[in-house]
Amino acid sequence: MLAEVLVYLTTPCRAAHRRLGHLKAAVDLWSRAGRCAAAWAPHYRQCWSVVERAMADLPRRRKVVVLGSGLARDVPVARLAAAFETVLLVDVVHLSIVRLRLARHRNVVLVTRDLSGLAPDGRPSGDPLAEFAADPEVDLIVSANLLSQIPLAYEDLAAAHTIATLPPADAPDMDGIAPVLVAGHLAGLAGFRGRVCLLTDTEQRTVDRAGRVLETAELIGGHRLPVPDACWTWTLAPFGEDGPEHELIHAVVGYVDFNRALRTSDAA
Ligand SMILES: C[S@@+](CC[C@H](N)C(=O)[O-])C[C@H]1O[C@@H](n2cnc3c(N)ncnc32)[C@H](O)[C@@H]1O
Repeated sequence: MLAEVLVYLTTPCRAAHRRLGHLKAAVDLWSRAGRCAAAWAPHYRQCWSVVERAMADLPRRRKVVVLGSGLARDVPVARLAAAFETVLLVDVVHLSIVRLRLARHRNVVLVTRDLSGLAPDGRPSGDPLAEFAADPEVDLIVSANLLSQIPLAYEDLAAAHTIATLPPADAPDMDGIAPVLVAGHLAGLAGFRGRVCLLTDTEQRTVDRAGRVLETAELIGGHRLPVPDACWTWTLAPFGEDGPEHELIHAVVGYVDFNRALRTSDAA
């Protein structure tokens, strides 16, 4: 608990993002990743393998952009730093402890951006990926388990009735916010000339000790994705983490070249 407080207090974060809960969510993620290290290791291995396949046959390796870099554990940062001239790690918050760990990589740059496409008050703020898509040197983009997370802060914002204070004409329909934000991220990914590697969880299952599925929740706003290059399960919360009698299992998909997968599924 003391470590979490220290990380919270030493991490720079815009007040608006702090109010949206991004800093607390990032510290919670770090804390849970520590407690669940053994359960999460197979998930990280799968993610690394998809990213390594995505970078293997690229003709050029100038810049790689990692979206939702977070703890920078589900991407092989050292290998990216060795292979590319520049590695841009993009997240709404970069924890002090992650900054410290990455400081030894001279070509790793931390970029702080809200990738939702919404301003903190919930109003549209433009395409958050446009600045990266406009950079002709970006040869690889990795969306690193970000897609399902983008709507979360804004669902909380709606719950806090902040958006209800906006004039009705400007207030987004919060019931429809997840599909819209997920669609926005997918459309942004389609705008890249470089290769796009997508890693995302798509569904959460609550499972009891007898293996019965108690509840299933869809995580990406009802979007249907093309056939993935890899799929696996991620034990997000083993027994005892979220409750003594159930575990939370996420279905995860990985795309070595997401835009190629989209084209193939359109053609079929
Ligand atoms: C499940 S974590 C991704 C894990 C991360 N790739 C890792 O290796 O730890 C989701 C990440 O998305 C980030 N995120 C959530 N909403 C965001 C937003 N609107 N803009 C940018 N990043 C966001 C969180 O801060 C978090 O780091």
